[in-house]
Amino acid sequence: MSVTQQIKDKLDIVQYIGEYVPGLKKAGRYYKACCPFHGEKTPSFVVNPDTQSWRCFGACAEGGDLFTFAQKMHGWTFSEALRELGQRAGVEVKKRTPQQQEQDEHLDKLRGLLTTVSEWYHEHLLSDDPHAQRALFYTEKERGFTRETIKTFEIGYAPLGWNSMLDELKKIGYSEDDAVEAGLASRNDKGRVYGRFRNRLMIPIRDERGRVIGFGARVLDPKDTPKYLNSPQSTIFDKSSTLYGLDVAKRAIRDSETAVIVEGYMDVIQAHQAGYPNVVAQMGTAMTEAQLKLLTPRYASKIIMALDADEAGQNATRRSLEVARETLQADYMGKLQVDIRVLEIDDAKDPDEVLRQTPEKWATYVEAAIPVADFVINIETNDLPPNASMTERQAAAQRILPILAASENNLYKKDNLQKLAMRLHISESDLLAWAQEIQRIAARKPRRSAPQDNMPPPPDDSYFGSMDEPPPNFDFDDEGLPPEYYEGTYIPPVEKQPTSPSTAQLPTFATRNSSRATEAYCLGMLLNKPTLLAQINRKFRELAQNNTKLLQGPLSELNSEDFSQGDYRALLSELQSAMSQDDVDPMDYLREELDEMLVDEMTILLLEEPQAIHRHMGMRHSAEFEDVWKNFERRVRPSIDTQVDFIRRALKVRHQRLEREQQEIRFLLEDAQRTHDREAEYLYCKQTEPGLRALLLIQRELGQRTLL
Ligand code: UTP
Ligand code: MN
Repeated sequence: MSVTQQIKDKLDIVQYIGEYVPGLKKAGRYYKACCPFHGEKTPSFVVNPDTQSWRCFGACAEGGDLFTFAQKMHGWTFSEALRELGQRAGVEVKKRTPQQQEQDEHLDKLRGLLTTVSEWYHEHLLSDDPHAQRALFYTEKERGFTRETIKTFEIGYAPLGWNSMLDELKKIGYSEDDAVEAGLASRNDKGRVYGRFRNRLMIPIRDERGRVIGFGARVLDPKDTPKYLNSPQSTIFDKSSTLYGLDVAKRAIRDSETAVIVEGYMDVIQAHQAGYPNVVAQMGTAMTEAQLKLLTPRYASKIIMALDADEAGQNATRRSLEVARETLQADYMGKLQVDIRVLEIDDAKDPDEVLRQTPEKWATYVEAAIPVADFVINIETNDLPPNASMTERQAAAQRILPILAASENNLYKKDNLQKLAMRLHISESDLLAWAQEIQRIAARKPRRSAPQDNMPPPPDDSYFGSMDEPPPNFDFDDEGLPPEYYEGTYIPPVEKQPTSPSTAQLPTFATRNSSRATEAYCLGMLLNKPTLLAQINRKFRELAQNNTKLLQGPLSELNSEDFSQGDYRALLSELQSAMSQDDVDPMDYLREELDEMLVDEMTILLLEEPQAIHRHMGMRHSAEFEDVWKNFERRVRPSIDTQVDFIRRALKVRHQRLEREQQEIRFLLEDAQRTHDREAEYLYCKQTEPGLRALLLIQRELGQRTLL
């Protein structure tokens, strides 16, 4: 039995929560109270003793198990909760070394110090110190921040003198050394300690969990430099792995699956004040891998870069995209389904200005954010002279194509290739072939059968000469090539045709969200009962009936490719590894092996994700208490037959995937038809066959009428 389960068996959730929520009363089968996490008069906080879970149907709209409650109540990480609750339950949890423990306590102490100091700065801003009043005037009148905003972001003022604060800190048990280590002060050669921040507007920087880890301090006196003085890099403050505002933005980002990234503190605060809460800042530099991973795959499937309108901003965008591309390629599945866009401001210097002058325009800007592909094509080709040589044009393609190839959606957008072809005077089909090669080489595992040696030669061998991997192959039978191919050489089509709107469509937000729901449900069930994996795989084998093409292709065992979400893909892979070993319980294996960032994800998935998504999709807010309640009850009495239910849903997940793939192939097919590329047409036509057949078999199994 997993450690978490052992702990849960020993501790009763009703009793545990009761200790923190004295008003918890029995109401029918459940217990209810006013939610401890937000102020309310009508109880909307429910504890279910049967499932040992809790949920707030009010403003929090959150829920979970014993662990998530303890985490939320105390601000613990999952492993902290595991340790604490394990101790309480008398269950042995793998212990941290005494040094680690000491370090943890020390860091907690420093964070406590920063929290206190932040409150102190904030109070000071609102005090009657004339300097502070000038700072307040600046904040309210010149920056346009309301009192409420000042409070929410706990904006403060660091006075000229440092001693009064130091005295207060000493009174509550902090030393000069602590202040130095927390980045609030520095010590000179003679051993004297000086405050770092003087006469500055103080913006506390919080980590994802809302703990103060540092400050960004803006000048008030124009003679001072630099404009922003930040806390120094330290064990608690690592600017490059922090996104300013994430603590207050993450809910909105999760709900909309969209994160907007801006350059600075002021942009974030202004955006939140204007009613756009999904905005975070990378704090001046280009986005780092660590920052990107804070957002995706956990919260966002769409990221909008909204950096300043100047050249520095454009360069930062370019570098950020480069980081994104590398990160995405290096990630769990070789590729994440993240839609990255660039928001271009044309009538102001930065988001802050737009948001202050014309807040309503922001939504239009966000809506109009262009795909990375367009941005990259624009900036890489804008400086290309009209008479650029082939080498120059190829070099530009070399810079652009990997970016198109890194994102399926971008590659298959014909507009991109058309635009690029036009700008570079290189044929679309050449570009497509190159891009696909890059994409295939980048993919870690070939998707289906082993490579064969009958691939058309790449349009220009030297172009990929430096890559040491063999050219990738299309996936078709030996007899698969039309005779025409052998008769002549491969001539890329030259004629251009007017753009025809594509009939195939990429999944919309709604369909993607609902597939996320099905996927979450399946994965949640699998995590609860890993043996279900064998059941669905048996079903696939049964449907394939010894047809190897189906078994190796569209009816292969359930795998991470079936999941459209990066985090789910990663979790499934881990689950598969957990199932393929038998040293420890699969759940224990997962908890031990899982990337820390996925543990949270898994916990959510195990307990609340499907419901949260249902709720998110089904109704706008938690007002429709009734419906939510029904969902909740359904969980209490699990559906008639878990196994049957699971298989149906897993088949749906596969169905969704095959449909996605069909859509992609149709894109290619259409393109081939349009350019009269008969080899390609034949090829893609053949590629659709097994998928269509599998779709049919699954539909029949699900008892639906054929839709295709
Ligand atoms: P900007 O100079 O664009 O800041 O730097 P801003 O928000 O427009 O400044 P205002 O409107 O004049 O107050 C953007 C971000 O770059 C970092 C900060 O994180 C800032 O928010 N930065 C900038 C520094 O760290 N130090 C600096 O000296 C300047
Ligand atoms: Mn700016």
